[in-house]
Amino acid sequence: MGRIKVTVVGAGNVGGSIAQRLVERDWYDVVLVDIVEGLPEGKALDLAEAGPVCGYRPEVIGTTHYEATEGSSIIVVTSGIARKPGMSRDELLETNAKIVASVVRETTQRSPDAVVIVVSNPLDAMAYVAYRVSRFSRSRVLGMAGILDSARFRTFIAQHLSVSVEDVHTMVLGGHGDSMVPLVRYTTIAGRPIREWMSEEDIAGLVKRTRDGGAEIVNLLKTGSAFYAPAASAVEMVEAITRDQKRIVPCSVLCEGEYGFHGLFMGVPVKLGSQGLEEIIEYELSPQERTALDVSGQAVRELCKHVDHLLSKL
Ligand code: LAC
Repeated sequence: MGRIKVTVVGAGNVGGSIAQRLVERDWYDVVLVDIVEGLPEGKALDLAEAGPVCGYRPEVIGTTHYEATEGSSIIVVTSGIARKPGMSRDELLETNAKIVASVVRETTQRSPDAVVIVVSNPLDAMAYVAYRVSRFSRSRVLGMAGILDSARFRTFIAQHLSVSVEDVHTMVLGGHGDSMVPLVRYTTIAGRPIREWMSEEDIAGLVKRTRDGGAEIVNLLKTGSAFYAPAASAVEMVEAITRDQKRIVPCSVLCEGEYGFHGLFMGVPVKLGSQGLEEIIEYELSPQERTALDVSGQAVRELCKHVDHLLSKL
């Protein structure tokens, strides 16, 4: 393998979509890992066979073992069970903490210089699991959530106003749960604040739909959760890091004093480049935004306490 090597753990819908988006760029080699015999091998072969038609030529390996992941630049963790209709992301905690801990242990010891991107839910708590198990510095353990939540908000705004999604900018902060915090004050359409485009009532409706965005898809699909937008969002992070883009996007990272949080994984605006997390950007928050972020932080803190307890038993 001579290109940038990315390991994707979990060959389900999210992992498969991430692998597809990566190989189509034609500058990544991808190792797809899963415990289900045949699934990663089958998807990898299928992706390789699309190469002659689509005009890409990366190496794609599917495997149930970790040996082939050695020396990866990025490890994307999508493993774990997805929620069913009526379930919250938090209900996945115990099962997925064990899975993510094992995956992170196996992959990080073989790729000690990698950046880890966690996609598994409950997101912020799983990023915390990855941080604790890998013992990597905080710059190399990131959770994907804010880009997805912001993409949903942007989509709803663009549809509502009948404008291009490209012209809609926003930041959704906080934990990737019901208490996430779409920053309405920092939401602009072609540089003009959203409050000059629509009523408070309409904004509140779109904020609510964004908060429930994951559940909306779960309820429609009935089996499994969203994967196209989550995969696209994870790939945006891979690109920002491997191409040293210095993108400013919301990601879940370990706050050590920033935004008043200590030792807590939270969705905050960060600069992503070759070092992974290069900087946390602190926005000024209104009292309401501050309160909302604190509520979200409290929810994540509860989950992380649970994680500490689980990890002490592993
Ligand atoms: C969602 C899941 C993947 O938000 O967390 O769709």
